[in-house]
Amino acid sequence: MAGVVVLGTQWGDEGKGRIVDLMAERADLVVRYQGGNNAGHTIVVDGRKTVLHHVPSGILRENSLSLIGNGVVEDPAVLVGEMETLRSAGHPVSPSNFLLSERAHVVMPYHRKIDVLREERLRGRRIGTTGRGIGPVYEDKYARRGFRLLDIAEPRSFRGRLEAVMAERNAYIERVLGSDPLDPAEVYEEYAAHGEALRPFMTDAAAVVRRSSEEGKRILFEGAQGSLLDVDFGTYPYVTSSNAGLGGVFSGTGAVPGLVGSVVGVSKAYTTRVGEGPFPTEESGEIQEALRREGGEYGATTGRSRRCGWLDAVALNYSIRTNGVSALALTKLDVLSGFAKVKICTGYGRNGSVTGEFPASLSALADCKPRYEELDGWREDLGGVRSPGELPENALRFVRRVEELTGVPVWMVSVGPARDMYVELAEPCF
Ligand code: GDP
Ligand code: IMO
Ligand code: MG
Repeated sequence: MAGVVVLGTQWGDEGKGRIVDLMAERADLVVRYQGGNNAGHTIVVDGRKTVLHHVPSGILRENSLSLIGNGVVEDPAVLVGEMETLRSAGHPVSPSNFLLSERAHVVMPYHRKIDVLREERLRGRRIGTTGRGIGPVYEDKYARRGFRLLDIAEPRSFRGRLEAVMAERNAYIERVLGSDPLDPAEVYEEYAAHGEALRPFMTDAAAVVRRSSEEGKRILFEGAQGSLLDVDFGTYPYVTSSNAGLGGVFSGTGAVPGLVGSVVGVSKAYTTRVGEGPFPTEESGEIQEALRREGGEYGATTGRSRRCGWLDAVALNYSIRTNGVSALALTKLDVLSGFAKVKICTGYGRNGSVTGEFPASLSALADCKPRYEELDGWREDLGGVRSPGELPENALRFVRRVEELTGVPVWMVSVGPARDMYVELAEPCF
């Protein structure tokens, strides 16, 4: 059976974790394909909140196997801590329900250090990274000086190569970034221990995906970040360092053509962004504050305030086309309750004309002035709504308008953070 991809269509935090958790009820395998612990995926079950940074969002479902693909980067201390937190909350985590690609790259202490030091030096041009070492670890992967999980679990070869790599990275830290070097012996001790602890979980993840597919299992591919943070298709250089979009599924799990049947694009009913970079529909003042307050828009990873604005159908359409999105999951519709008017950006005004294209150039994007369509709002609390007929007329009109503007069906709308707080509008994709 062909698998389903769940990916973010905005700048992250669209509610991917919540959607994956919901869909995982019917999944046999949930695979994370890229990113690292820059991600924070929130799931609320029975009033209990779980924030996952590494472990796939299917882990709370006992029926499914959670798998980390080779495209993910792992900070082993964070991963081990997260596994422990899950266990102490009563969720079993063992090689029978959780496996890691032996090819996934490892975030080293110098990656975190370089990330933070570089951001400090950039001052006015900083990206606003999460400081988790994500850029530097992917850089090292492509520079062919990275360490995979497999490598840290092979102590003898690990030690020699670590010394060589760290000699170079330390020189960079000292001479270019003006900070103190790290001690290779300490890093070796710590990481060799992590390698040992994680060894039972390591596997050929691509082979697991292939076998699952051959056995007719239901596979869910979980994206992190969002398509507008994709290193190729996002608002470069204000992006993350991996392919958060569809391409990442193939390079990050070993999936082959035919294995991906449909793509669920997750979008908030408005837009948020955390960190720096262009954001055409960003609001200031009362609207931004109301969205942040009602939506609880504070980062699940760093706690930073998220920048907020109206839904941007130009950016959404760009993400939909770039990723072959076949259905939308529209989250946080409840947050729009109480606004007299709700807006959707349907075009960008630039150089005297209006365009529906999302430009690659940052300066062009900065010149774009959103053109809004205004819809009547609704006052009703949506938290208890479970069927389309219960949605206030204007809320349903908003959803139908999103479908018209994108040409893609809204499979479901989410009306609250808890597992059961959603309304299905079309047949499930699974
Ligand atoms: P992810 O990174 O895409 O998984 O999203 P995050 O977990 O970072 O951010 C989404 C936030 O919105 C979390 O706090 C969720 O609990 C919450 N959330 C998800 N869906 C809804 C919804 O429909 N309504 C409300 N009010 N909150 C939601
Ligand atoms: P989830 O999976 C929102 C942003 C950072 C910064 C940029 C680069 O929870 O949606 P990085 O640390 O990746 O080098 O930072 O990307 N960013 C996210 N924003 N949600 C995320 O993940 C993010 N992961 C990275 O804020 O702007
Ligand atoms: Mg998040």
